[in-house]
Amino acid sequence: MLKRFSTRKDKYTDDTDVTPIDPENVPNHVAIIMDGNGRWAKQRGLPRIAGHREGMNVVRKIVRQASRLGLHTLTLYAFSTENWKRPKMEVDFLMKLPDRFLQSELPTLKEENVRVQVMGTLNEIPKHTVDAVQKAVEETKENDGMILNFALNYGSRFEMVEAIKSLYEDVDAGNVKVEDIDENSISDYLMTKDLPDPDLLVRTSGEVRLSNFMLWQLAYAELWFTDVLWPDFTEEHFLEAIRVYQRRTRRYGGV
Ligand code: FPP
Repeated sequence: MLKRFSTRKDKYTDDTDVTPIDPENVPNHVAIIMDGNGRWAKQRGLPRIAGHREGMNVVRKIVRQASRLGLHTLTLYAFSTENWKRPKMEVDFLMKLPDRFLQSELPTLKEENVRVQVMGTLNEIPKHTVDAVQKAVEETKENDGMILNFALNYGSRFEMVEAIKSLYEDVDAGNVKVEDIDENSISDYLMTKDLPDPDLLVRTSGEVRLSNFMLWQLAYAELWFTDVLWPDFTEEHFLEAIRVYQRRTRRYGGV
């Protein structure tokens, strides 16, 4: 039996809803801000890293479920450009997680036809982390199932600044005309240039903000927030997010 967390409509976790998922209306791209690891650990008198370790185990389950539900892309916010402000020991641990995760999960990801990708500034992160991620990217690049996109040392404003710089260089070099720049051209300079925009954003732990995550790409996404802490997040919660998504009417500014 899942707990009821809040009566706020968007944060309501309903353990009684067994509405079947409509396979024709599964969000193409789900992005998740996996928040609450530290609080989960604190509640248990454990060090914060214990929450991150448990969070990694949840990643395993949700990746598998997302792939089986037929998502095109699942983006997970694993480390933000702001997370460097944390104690060194915690940062070091967070940097070990992709490595650990991929060491144990890569065979399963391959079996499930999942393609691993990464977005973020990789030249600032430890070599062992980059190597692990690049190995997974390389070894899964022919897979045509779900894209598992890790946001690692990612920040949306930085991404936009870099996009503007590259676009400016192309204008300067005569490759792009200013009058031809439109929304698609901006999207083409972002780290997500080959991905569809997210249809659904999930954020756990009761925080209701975007925290510099995919600000351009989330323009028309449905947002779903839950009080559940990421280490407590289950497949049932994920289904609940998708049910809520399926009940919403997307209007894209129309009527
Ligand atoms: C936010 O919780 C979470 C993070 C900064 C890290 C998220 C990482 C994982 C869930 C594991 C990643 C796994 C892989 C495979 C890369 P918080 O620490 O800010 O929680 P708090 O707000 O309760 O302190």
